[in-house]
Amino acid sequence: MNNEVPRHVAIIMDGNGRWAQKRGLKRTKGHQKGAEVLKKISEYVYDKKIKVLSVFAFSTENWKRDKEEVDYLMDLFIKAFRKNFESIKKKGVKIVFSGLRNKLSSKVLNTMDEMVNETKNNKNGIFNICLNYGGQDEIVEATKKIAKEVQNKALDISEINQEVINQNMFNDLPPIDLMIRTSGEYRISNFMLWQLAYAELYFTDVLWPDFNEEEFDKALNSFGKRDRRFGAIKK
Ligand code: FPP
Repeated sequence: MNNEVPRHVAIIMDGNGRWAQKRGLKRTKGHQKGAEVLKKISEYVYDKKIKVLSVFAFSTENWKRDKEEVDYLMDLFIKAFRKNFESIKKKGVKIVFSGLRNKLSSKVLNTMDEMVNETKNNKNGIFNICLNYGGQDEIVEATKKIAKEVQNKALDISEINQEVINQNMFNDLPPIDLMIRTSGEYRISNFMLWQLAYAELYFTDVLWPDFNEEEFDKALNSFGKRDRRFGAIKK
């Protein structure tokens, strides 16, 4: 039992498409409902005194989906960024993005930049949205930045350590304590590989559009019962 509140919670919000298909609806309806659920959960998380929330909004592999679904998601992001997170902005949460900027339209990029700028001085929490994100890409990008610093003689190879690597990730975030994946899939799917090193993993069959505060509490209760040893032996 650790009975602690996790500092950093990460969520793979999976199952939007299946939720819609089960109801004879278009997959995009599932994303629409998924966005409403994220709004509620994001408010709940910071009320629970969790400091950092990371969510997987769009992976570098998601471009393989039909153009109609990709276009819908990009539009939904713009709308949600402008409207859904007003309440967490008011709570003093800083919004950041992780991912590559290539392939994203200037409309999406401008909205992202606006959110980041508006909230950059907020200190009460961090909301990290992974968009056009891949965990292996993040490590590649960090490696390039560090190599450049070594090349410019700003950094010596002997100075490279875990902290330096963390500082060169898309965002300098604390390690993930609890990772939740919905919809009964038991995979990490290239999500925050570096930050998940010692995370407790929680999987539920609930589809993301059906997820709610009660389901989130179940994950927190499960986390509270875990015995976190970080490779050490319990005394
Ligand atoms: C996975 O379900 C979900 C996504 C690829 C999109 C996640 C996006 C949202 C929850 C919308 C709101 C997000 C933000 C950041 C405003 P899936 O489509 O893979 O579902 P399936 O496995 O049932 O097909």
